[in-house]
Amino acid sequence: MNFDVETVLSQLTQNEKIALLSGIDFWHTFPIPKHNVPSIRFTDGPNGIRGTKFFAGVPAACLPCGTALAATWDKPLLKRAGKLLGDECIAKGAHCWLGPTINTPRSPLGGRGFESFSEDPYLSGILAASMILGCESTGVTSCVKHFVGNDQEHERRAVDCLITPRALREVYLRPFQIVARDAKPGAMMTSYNKVNGRHVADSEEMLQQIIRSEWKWDPLIVSDWYGTYTTIDAIKAGLDLEMPGVSRYRGKYIESALQARLLKMSTIDERARRVLKFAQKAGELKVSEVERGRDFAEDRALNRQVSSSSIVLLKNDDSLLPLPKTAGKIALIGSHVRLPVISGGGSASLLPYYSVSLYDAVAEALPNASITHEVGAYAHQMLPVIEAMIHNAIIKFYNDPITLVDRQLLGTENVSSTSFQLMDYNAIPTLNRGMFWGTLLGDFIPTATGTWDFGLSVFGTADLYIDDELLIDNTTHQTRGTAFFGKGTMEKIGSKELVGGKTYKLRLEFGSANTTKMETTGMVNFGGGAVHLGACLRGDPQEMIARAVQAASEADYTIICTGLSGEWESEGFDRPHMDLPPGVDDMISQVLDAAPNAVVVNQSGTPVTMAWAHKARAIIQAWYGGNETGHGISDVIFGAVSPSGKLPLSWPVDVKHNPAYLNYASVGGRVLYGEDVFVGYKFYEKTGREVLFPFGHGLSYATFELSDSEVKTVPEVLRPGHSSVAVVKIKNTSKIAGAQVLQLYISAPDSPTHRPTKELHGFEKVFLEAGEEKEVQIAIDQYATSFWDEIESMWKSEEGTYDVLVGTSSQEILGRGKLIVPETRFWLGL
Ligand code: BGC
Repeated sequence: MNFDVETVLSQLTQNEKIALLSGIDFWHTFPIPKHNVPSIRFTDGPNGIRGTKFFAGVPAACLPCGTALAATWDKPLLKRAGKLLGDECIAKGAHCWLGPTINTPRSPLGGRGFESFSEDPYLSGILAASMILGCESTGVTSCVKHFVGNDQEHERRAVDCLITPRALREVYLRPFQIVARDAKPGAMMTSYNKVNGRHVADSEEMLQQIIRSEWKWDPLIVSDWYGTYTTIDAIKAGLDLEMPGVSRYRGKYIESALQARLLKMSTIDERARRVLKFAQKAGELKVSEVERGRDFAEDRALNRQVSSSSIVLLKNDDSLLPLPKTAGKIALIGSHVRLPVISGGGSASLLPYYSVSLYDAVAEALPNASITHEVGAYAHQMLPVIEAMIHNAIIKFYNDPITLVDRQLLGTENVSSTSFQLMDYNAIPTLNRGMFWGTLLGDFIPTATGTWDFGLSVFGTADLYIDDELLIDNTTHQTRGTAFFGKGTMEKIGSKELVGGKTYKLRLEFGSANTTKMETTGMVNFGGGAVHLGACLRGDPQEMIARAVQAASEADYTIICTGLSGEWESEGFDRPHMDLPPGVDDMISQVLDAAPNAVVVNQSGTPVTMAWAHKARAIIQAWYGGNETGHGISDVIFGAVSPSGKLPLSWPVDVKHNPAYLNYASVGGRVLYGEDVFVGYKFYEKTGREVLFPFGHGLSYATFELSDSEVKTVPEVLRPGHSSVAVVKIKNTSKIAGAQVLQLYISAPDSPTHRPTKELHGFEKVFLEAGEEKEVQIAIDQYATSFWDEIESMWKSEEGTYDVLVGTSSQEILGRGKLIVPETRFWLGL
């Protein structure tokens, strides 16, 4: 089934053309069967393929989060990861992957920093291009997002990002420019925010001029979900498709604008043509008719490789790691040991096929070891979900509240998690999606006797009953919290003495989104509603730490694994500070005092304060590691894999040192990108501010040397339109195989333009057997010598002699060379 775009366009009625310009529901475009135009399915994104259901969805492969993927610095590996996502899309019946996210984590506090790749635009763009090429090799279209400036969550739909043209070009647009040059994905999503006074979705300069005219890239341009704000401006600006449906700004409004000659029919034709082209290409792909899973051994192996390659060994004094596999007694301490965090929160989260905990992975790697586990300190924000303790759980759906006697049951669903969102739930045709109610019923069997704290957060309204006694009323009075993209209430707590092993009748009565008592203006209101129900046995914090200390002092080896989670790092809000959850630092510190050899594993998508870093001999940054989180960590700890990950973000000592610290939240409706082009390491280097761990840092168990500290560039003179290569020889001087990432930085000559001390403009990850030596070539192109000249509004490659620095981190430079630009040149394009 296929069609010719121009023939169909010439046959469509005006109404059909208009209908093509908005989605029909949360995930699909408008089909025109009589012309063979299919309905195209989008799916989130970015580190797994959730399919069409936030609630009661089909399980999926979950790759490590964006910053973890970037920490691999491995182009071929990410290409394979992209292909895996393409294959997952096909299984989920989806034609277009809403990913990757290539916004810029200017601050460690960004709610979606974990989804993005790097503070460095070159690294982000190059790695994103690899993933896109992998994904699109399956026929699935990639929709790279969010263009541009969605670098914070606070007031994300309204905030005006004030960015100089130079920073916009050199930092924020650059990853998109690289992707346009190297991968040309078939779709691109606009961001929610404004840039310099205008919503990007309404900006002809951004969409038509930069993307389509200057870069000659013609993707389908899709709005972020509910991120279309106007009819006329957005159409003129080049925004092809409003998502999701039902349309809020198109349909009859376009009709009216055409009548009033505020829009031309030729512009509507242009947008409709772009949607048809997208549907035509996407429609060629045969995707599964039913949404299904595909969980193959080779995918698990790939995911495990990505996970272990993303691990960054931050510190390893006296080669404490790897730990011997002969270890007899191991203490595993921390909140993340048994409950691995596989992903950050928000639209990146999904129901995984499975997830491997560190506990299970260590037990598998060391079958003869005796393993003890102590939580030490809880790291949750809301109380943890309890589906594992609820039996026979179902949710019943109604169009009327519980107060109506004889309300009609319309349908039921099983409960895979006691935290769920119903925005795209449409399995019951008779359910009134605007206003409905549900009852969750189940047998709750607590695992231990004591005081149990229950917690309930909701977008809508909800009450919790245990044995028909009201324990939590989150209906009458509601206070706003951060859950559910910032639309949920604060968690309300209720407590009860319970006997371990005894069965209690649990009942949760909830009303959908529109029953909420809170104001929702200014937020993205996805509708449907959402609930988070959790519970936890109350523990005395000091006793918990004491038990952890005890376990650590009795063990041969101790591994602490804790950190943040999707509750702390998520879409809809930013972190208020950079610290670990309350009590966690104290616990780590006390365990390190008792067991100085304890290895600390931190899971977070972006940097956290590590006040105890000086005490720890070994620190591992493990991100959110996807399905294979536990394997990824244990493969590195016990030496099955020599670590090769490198930080894609600088790791400040204190959040106050971060260049965006004074300008990171919407104040008076705007945020000033005051650090200009000096984002991340470019700021720390220029100001001589020490960081805890620098950009590009990451240790290995193997050792490497450059054979010559002089780097040859061939040719040494960079002629317009050409590229050079830096040639270096690297040797693995150790007795084990390993990989090193050679990073190429360019240092521009002095000029009146304030330039960063150095900028990353090339890298290669090199795998070397013990004793092996390889010659490596790293390409350098015109981007490396150019900055955005604000007077000419063009790129300027300035004449002069540039230093070429090759190192293993931004601070560990091992080789130097030169690159000569013989004459100054201005350019535009890619
Ligand atoms: C997010 C997008 C996502 C979309 C659909 C939006 O809130 O910003 O990244 O793809 O929702 O879930």
